[in-house]
Amino acid sequence: MAEHIANGLNADLYEIVPEEPYTEADLNYNDDNSRSTIEMNDPSARPAISGSVENMEQYDIVFIGYPIWWGEAPRIVSTFMESYDFSGKTIVPFCTSGGSGIGSSDSNLEQLTSGADWLEGRRLNGSDSEETVMEWVNGLDNLLNIRWYGSLMKGKYSLLRIFRTSD
Ligand SMILES: Cc1cc2nc3c(=O)[nH]c(=O)nc-3n(C[C@H](O)[C@H](O)[C@H](O)COP(=O)(O)O)c2cc1C
Repeated sequence: MAEHIANGLNADLYEIVPEEPYTEADLNYNDDNSRSTIEMNDPSARPAISGSVENMEQYDIVFIGYPIWWGEAPRIVSTFMESYDFSGKTIVPFCTSGGSGIGSSDSNLEQLTSGADWLEGRRLNGSDSEETVMEWVNGLDNLLNIRWYGSLMKGKYSLLRIFRTSD
C-alpha cells in the first residue's frame, strides 16, 4: 500500500524496520505469550527501530501506514511517532487489517505527537490496486491544499523555503 502511494505521489518511501525482526511465532495472536501479544498488552512498549529517517524536517506531509494489531497500531509505530518532531506537518494515517476498521488506532497515535495536523485515517484493503489507493489519495488533494494555504497564512511554512529548492 505504501509503495502504491509513494509511486503515485512520487514521494520518498521509508520502511519502519524493527531492530529485532518479528518471527512468525512473534506474530502469533493466538498465543498469549507471543511477543506481539505481550507488546500490545503493554501500551508503554516501545520496540526499537533499526535506522532512522534522514532530514525529517524537509517533509511537510507524512503518510503513516501500519497493519492493525488487536485494534491498534503495532507499538513500534508509537516508537516512530515519538522519535521525530512532527509539529507543523500534516499526517495522513492509513492501515490494513484482516477486517477491523482503523478504530481509534490513529487518534491514539495522534496523542503521541504535538502540533501536527492529522487527517482522518483510512483503512485500505491489502489487495487494493494502485489505482484504487490513488483515488483516495487524490481525493485528499483539495484538503491538503486548503490546509497548506491555511498553514502558510499562519506562518507555519515559509514561501522562502518552498521556492528555495532550485538554488
Ligand atoms: C498480532 C496481530 C494482531 C492482529 N490483530 C488484528 C485485528 O485486531 N483486527 C484485524 O482485522 N486484523 C488483525 N490482524 C491482521 C493484520 O492486520 C493483517 O494481517 C495485516 O493488516 C495485513 O493485511 P493484508 O493481509 O490485507 O495485507 C492482526 C495481525 C497480527 C499479526
